[in-house]
Amino acid sequence: MPVQNIAAFCLFVAFTVVSGCNIPPSQWCSSEEVAKTCQVYQQCKNYIQNTANVPVNFTLYYESLCPDCKNFFKQQLYKAFKSVGSIMNLTLIPYGNAREQKIGDQWVFDCQHGKQECIGNVIETCAISILGNISVYMPFIYCIEHSSDSQPSKSAQKCASQFGIDLAPIMKCSTSKMGNDLEHQMAVRTDALRPRHTYVPWVTLNGVHTKEIQWKAEHNLIQLICETYQGGSKPVACSNLKTSGRCYKIDSKPDV
Ligand SMILES: *[C@@H]1O[C@H](CO)[C@@H](O)[C@H](O)[C@H]1NC(C)=O
Ligand SMILES: *[C@@H]1O[C@H](CO)[C@@H](O)[C@H](O)[C@H]1NC(C)=O
Ligand SMILES: *[C@@H]1O[C@H](CO)[C@@H](O)[C@H](O)[C@H]1NC(C)=O
Repeated sequence: MPVQNIAAFCLFVAFTVVSGCNIPPSQWCSSEEVAKTCQVYQQCKNYIQNTANVPVNFTLYYESLCPDCKNFFKQQLYKAFKSVGSIMNLTLIPYGNAREQKIGDQWVFDCQHGKQECIGNVIETCAISILGNISVYMPFIYCIEHSSDSQPSKSAQKCASQFGIDLAPIMKCSTSKMGNDLEHQMAVRTDALRPRHTYVPWVTLNGVHTKEIQWKAEHNLIQLICETYQGGSKPVACSNLKTSGRCYKIDSKPDV
């Protein structure tokens, strides 16, 4: 760094300390208010405009019958989807700790919680593909995950009638070549994780998994999404958060 830049930087740091900006630099452009407090409003302005309304990518790797996955749906995911879904690009990957093997032209799956779990995974995978719209398939999948029935085909039936979803094409898909290929794609996406997942549920935030991100997702997903979102206007649920929770830093490096 040239000398004059270092000088400018030091002056800048001194200035921000004086002005009461006690927020980590990674958050300086998190809102206009913060940018002004930290004296970087002009510098952040273009950045804020460029990133306005870009949703936070949040991906859940899970398997249909695992109790911790079900709890994550119940305690965090569905509430977050309903209250901050507009700023979250949610992707569901139902595969988890399953294994696959190609036999002939079919993929054969071996699931942690047995055959029923494989059936649940492929029903949910087919629902995602056939229904297409997350506002439609999320309540349906949540309902299946919320059910204590150990046979996902039965809970799918109940949930489909509850939400007025035509189940026939989804069930047809789940036993067809199409469903088999779609589930294989879920396997490929899961196996592409770096670092590899070591448990489920496993989450990534803007493509990154760290212990800290995982911990926050499991304890207050709404807050995690709100503080990661870089866009201008946040949903109401974000302003109901305790401000004390806003200052911790998100480690953006993957922990290997
Ligand atoms: C949402 O996530 C999917 C992958 O999970 C990605 O293909 C898509 O581009 C993302 N959309 C936005 C708007 O970020
Ligand atoms: C998705 O479904 C919701 C709820 O039914 C509906 O309001 C919305 O228009 C749909 N979006 C698209 C892109 O079809
Ligand atoms: C979300 O994922 C898409 C597709 O990979 C990417 O283009 C986009 O930049 C990501 N959004 C953020 C906020 O990282």
